[in-house]
Amino acid sequence: MEYIYLTEEIIQRINRYLEKFPRKEQVIIQALHLIYDKYRDIQLEHIQELADYLKEPVATIEGIVSFYDMFRLKRNARHHIRICKNLPCHIMKYKNLLKLIEEKTGVKAGEHDPNGRFYIELVECIGACSIAPAFMIDNDLYDGSKITEEKLDEILSKYT
Ligand code: FES
Repeated sequence: MEYIYLTEEIIQRINRYLEKFPRKEQVIIQALHLIYDKYRDIQLEHIQELADYLKEPVATIEGIVSFYDMFRLKRNARHHIRICKNLPCHIMKYKNLLKLIEEKTGVKAGEHDPNGRFYIELVECIGACSIAPAFMIDNDLYDGSKITEEKLDEILSKYT
């Protein structure tokens, strides 16, 4: 099958998830995040390509999409904040960072605000352990260890 939506980059990242995660469902969820982040939506065509690549039934992936509220919540938010919770970021106190971001945005992890500005998600390693605790807003990567209240205000103001 010729892929239109599964770009080379997405496929490479899916391959890394396949090595890292023992359960196919975890790979599917991470792959759906990648697709969502690139296309800001998850359509049947995306699901069909992913199903083909992972050799899984389309219905299995559709089931995961409808089961996980976060995809619906993400669809309803303009900006997606991802905070890494894996060990290096845990050691570097990602929880303090999360608390500050939750306070500043008025949004709890796993939720989005009523204005649909931000959706916050705790995620597995985002490949930026050297700047732990790492976080991303949309496709921008930030070093959480350098975050002060003022700095965070300045960063958040860029995402309207
Ligand atoms: S563990 Fe947090 S970015 Fe790798």
